[in-house]
Amino acid sequence: MKAAMAAFFELPLMEKKKFAMGANDLEGYGQAYVVSEEQKLDWCDLVALKTLPLEQRNLNFWPLNLPGFKEAVEEYSIEVQKVAEEINANLSILMGMERDGLKRYQGELKQLMRMNYYPPCSSPDLVVGVSPHSDGGSLTVLLQDDDIIGLQIKHKGEWIPVKPIPNALVVNIGDAIEIMSNGVYKSIEHRAITNEKKARISAAAFAYVDDELEIGPLDSMVDDPHRPPMYKKIKYIYYIRQVLARKMDGKAHTDLVKIQT
Ligand code: OGA
Ligand code: NI
Repeated sequence: MKAAMAAFFELPLMEKKKFAMGANDLEGYGQAYVVSEEQKLDWCDLVALKTLPLEQRNLNFWPLNLPGFKEAVEEYSIEVQKVAEEINANLSILMGMERDGLKRYQGELKQLMRMNYYPPCSSPDLVVGVSPHSDGGSLTVLLQDDDIIGLQIKHKGEWIPVKPIPNALVVNIGDAIEIMSNGVYKSIEHRAITNEKKARISAAAFAYVDDELEIGPLDSMVDDPHRPPMYKKIKYIYYIRQVLARKMDGKAHTDLVKIQT
């Protein structure tokens, strides 16, 4: 998977542009979190592909003439989805349900694979690799470089580096699980910074629910009046549209659906 991603980003720009992301597209080669004409772009190139379910792949965005790319991405996406499903099963138990609790509620999770390429930057203090955000889906499983630190999480107002553990994956709780868990599991604010000398590549596999699903705090996580629902119910598509239309700017995206008390 790492070799396949590196090979893609090494393609000449003209080749990569054949897969260019259109305005309002989630898929293709382009930049993250573009919400206005005026903003400074992140110091990052990416290619995002809908990877699961297999029938929702849009092969026009896939570099099919790059040897081994499709095979690697397909195999990795299927395996990493099993990791996400296993974590969901365990989270279900922690949330007071059976192992299949989240699966029953969320249905079969979809997957968007975002492959990020952070070029080296001679003035890393002047740019940000990926702007602060939380991941909007259910769970994100991130494959990152074993020896380059780039990812940071916001903890008590400070940016804390997530040091890579060799051969380990990083798992983020996404906004949807924060909402379903009634705020018990927080979708962490994070960003990535760049590096002066070395390029860094990562793959974020976002597992997310169907657009039409209404998400809200799960019954097992609500106990009125001790633990009243803290989030409104909302159709996932409406939620994610609002999230993608704005930068985080110090406010959590999940604030959009918090019930004010
Ligand atoms: C993302 C993300 C961090 C990284 O793609 O959502 O947070 O380390 N990436 O690349
Ligand atoms: Ni992220």
